[in-house]
Amino acid sequence: MKPEILERVIYSPEEIAARVRELARQIAADYRSGGGRDPYRRPLLVVGLLKGALPFMADLTRAMDIPMEYDFMAVSSYQGGTSPGEVRILKDLDSPVGARDLLIVEDIVDTGHTLDHILRRLKVREPASLRVCTLLDKPARREVEVPVDYVGFTLEENLFVVGYGLDYAELYRNLPYIGVVKPEYQER
Ligand code: IMP
Repeated sequence: MKPEILERVIYSPEEIAARVRELARQIAADYRSGGGRDPYRRPLLVVGLLKGALPFMADLTRAMDIPMEYDFMAVSSYQGGTSPGEVRILKDLDSPVGARDLLIVEDIVDTGHTLDHILRRLKVREPASLRVCTLLDKPARREVEVPVDYVGFTLEENLFVVGYGLDYAELYRNLPYIGVVKPEYQER
């Protein structure tokens, strides 16, 4: 049953699966052709941003036929507090990143503050390469410019969406589709 807060579904499970498969093929091909490093000695390190990237990362990486390791970061954004855009690291990587190829997997890039903070933190550790893959992108909301290499879907309007990892007050992450929250439930 569709939750009461939802206005409509914008991406069905089938549409998401098809796009994720396309992205996976493209990303795997890019890493296969680039670098020339021994992929088994220094496999790609896929970094999922908890919690929102979980379903996306699981589906994306299972469709990527290249050697890889998983790691995770968890961050929290202060919202409505004294420092908008400030980001706090709740969980850092377990693996050292020096000379590794890193692929950050994110659920959605909105203002860009979260990603900007994470990229700055990781760049100083001198990875061999650093790329970003996001399921959703809201370019119209950007406050900081951030490099995004792979995008699943671009949201042209300022929509607040849930499902397939994305939450509203921690709920609805498990919906198999992506839906738009009704305006009366939106915080902004
Ligand atoms: P940014 O730092 O403004 O780019 O925010 C990124 C984070 O905000 C994402 O990782 C999400 O947790 C959250 N976010 C932004 N837009 C949405 C949305 O439409 N639905 C659910 N979460 C969102």
